[in-house]
Formats: sequence, structure tokens, C-alpha cells
Amino acid sequence: MSAFRTLDSADLKGKRVLVRVDLNLPMDGGKVTDATRIERILPTLNEISQKGGKVILLAHFGRPKNGPDEANSLRPVAAAVAQHLGKPVAFATDCIGPVAAEAVNKLKDGEFLLLENTRFHKGEEKNDPSLIDAMAALGDIYVNDAFSAAHRAHASTEGLAKKLPAYAGRTMQAEVEALSKALEIPVRPVAAVVGGAKVSTKLELLGNLTKKVDFLIIGGGMANTFLAAQGKKVGKSLCEHDLLDTAREILKTAAENKCRIVLPVDAVVAQEFRAHAPSHVVGVDHVGDADMILDAGPKSVAEVEKVLGEAKTLVWNGPFGAFELEPFDAATNAVAKFAARLTGEGKLLTVAGGGDTVAALNHAGVADKFTYVSTAGGAFLEWLEGKVLPGVEAIRA
Ligand code: 3PG
Ligand code: MG
Repeated sequence: MSAFRTLDSADLKGKRVLVRVDLNLPMDGGKVTDATRIERILPTLNEISQKGGKVILLAHFGRPKNGPDEANSLRPVAAAVAQHLGKPVAFATDCIGPVAAEAVNKLKDGEFLLLENTRFHKGEEKNDPSLIDAMAALGDIYVNDAFSAAHRAHASTEGLAKKLPAYAGRTMQAEVEALSKALEIPVRPVAAVVGGAKVSTKLELLGNLTKKVDFLIIGGGMANTFLAAQGKKVGKSLCEHDLLDTAREILKTAAENKCRIVLPVDAVVAQEFRAHAPSHVVGVDHVGDADMILDAGPKSVAEVEKVLGEAKTLVWNGPFGAFELEPFDAATNAVAKFAARLTGEGKLLTVAGGGDTVAALNHAGVADKFTYVSTAGGAFLEWLEGKVLPGVEAIRA
């Protein structure tokens, strides 16, 4: 795996720099509700600006399928980026053509411009050469700082990198370095926590991890499917009864690869799926017909903590229980805090990402105490699946 060119080797002065960022932000009524992705790109934007580059941002928003529409416009996002930068950010209503060219021409060295949603052009998702040419005409250099969109082989994430001199931005660089320390060149033993509702969405991921990690800790609803595969009764719990054979296959592959699977030994059960529903703890051999498993129990947490005490590296994706409903966030909170403590003591390198994970760690109050928390959803999962990410490959030297 070759390294990629970073901003260290880019000659930016006076250059038009097309920077692919991920501004696919959670919004509510035109306001950004979580600005983490903006904060993460600030070092790259400031560095290019300070080195005298003209910073031209390319990004997608939502999944528009039929050309431009107001609901998916990046215009409100330009204001949010400007606010975080503390500097003006111009906006152009198209990412190619005369409108974009005129906005680019007006830029002085060190200034910022955001171009409208790349997905307003059908060619974006098709990685269409004519769209790539039209984008390339606006810049001299390409920088990709959008790891979280790197699983897409789109014009602005992949095609453009092959057309212009291409570099990794600082966030892309940090993300890829953190992830390879966690799985490609980890200090062993490596543990993975995989939680979440369904085995079916994480089959490839589980398959890949059984070959790469020493301990695979399974939590959340998907643990129930594994328990059922071992012949245990799971009552009314979330469980994919059609995937019991698949779960057994995964257990078998794990055994063949000397990967120890860690499943819950006890569970917090309730009869209703709601916050503060009356609940109690049972061993996993004693789940009643009317019971719903909503969290891992204290013995399971102790077992997981013991494993983390032995591990040197942890990769985390997905919560243990129904963490959005109190008190069924207890196991997730406890293990997250324990992992954060080991990280602080320098005993464990912790990398987390994907979907609900960041929300769960924020909820536990420890997201900033992990070694690295990815803002990527799908890209993080595909990386855990062992897939090549086209946007990362395209900027390798
Ligand atoms: C994300 O929000 O996960 C990325 O921006 C990718 O978005 P997409 O799943 O619509 O390609
Ligand atoms: Mg996504």
C-alpha cells in the first residue's frame, strides 16, 4: 500500500485548489445541528489559505436524483463554514460552467469559495468524464479531505483525483493513519466491538474482522442472533431467525482464525421497548418468552472490560444496547468510559466510527477521549469490511 501525497509536498501559492470536503451535515430547518465535519476540515482549509492557495470547496449534500432543488442546496452550509472559519466564504450556484468560473476568477489568494452540490449533476455519481473535465477546468490542484465520502467512486471523489495533481488533506491523512494503526498495522492483541441491531447489515464486516482481530465482542440486537444460533431462547428480543446458520458460520470462521468471540453472558430484559420500562437482569440461559433483551448485563460488561484490559488496540462500531433509551444505555456507557480510561492511561489505542457509534460515544461523554473518532458512516463500515475505498486509492502516490 503506497503512501499518498500530503499538503507538505504541495505548491499552493497562487494556485486554484479544488478541495473535496464532506459537508453532508445533519441539518434542521436550515441550521446545522452537528458541525463536527466542518470542524474537522478547518485545519486543511486554513493551511491552504495561509500558504496562498485559493480554496474552492466541492461537496455533495443529500441524495438528489433530479437536478437542483432548494432542499439539497449547500447555500446555508456556506454560511456555517464561514462562521466556523471566522472568514467569508463565497458561494456559487453551480459547481461547473460560467457561474462557477466567474466565482473562481473573483477569488484572491487565500480566499474561500463553496460550489453548489456536486450531485445536482447526474455525472457526479456516474464518475462522468465530461463532468470531471468541467470541474478540472476550475482548478490547478486537487485535495481530498473527505474520507467519509471516499467509498464513492464519484467524479468529485475519484475521477478528479486522476485528472489533476492530487493530495490528501489533513483530515484524510489523520483518518487513514488512525485506521491503519487500528487494523492494518495494529499493536496486538486487537479487539473489535461490533454492535447494532442487525447481523444482516454487518455480515461482510463480521467476516473480515474474524480474520483480523483477536477478540470480537458482539453487542446490541445482533448478539441475540448469535445467542439464538447457540440454541438459547431470546423471547421477544430483536433476532434474525433466518440468519442462525450464517451466525454459526461466522462462529466457525472465528474459531478457525483463532479469533475469540465474546458474547453477552447476561442481559437486561424488559417487556416493552421504551425508556424506563420495568427491567431486570437475567443470565442468557434464562430469558423468558415475554422478555425483550434491551442491554447487556453487568457480568457481560465485566467480561468485556477484562478483554479490553488484555487488548492493546480497539476498533469500535455500534452500541451494546438500546442506548437511546435510559437506562438501557448502561452497558454502552460503562464500556465506553472504561475504554476511554485505558486510552488516557496509554494502555489502549481506540478508534471508533460508523453510524450510531459517534452518537453513542457522545452520549457516554467520551468521544473526545478516544484516540480517534471517525466522522465517517458508510466509508468506515466499508473499511471494516476490508474493501478498497476508491477515493483513498485515487490519491495514493
Ligand atoms: C455520509 O454522510 O455518510 C457521506 O457524506 C456519504 O453520503 P452518501 O451515503 O449519500 O454517499
Ligand atoms: Mg451514508
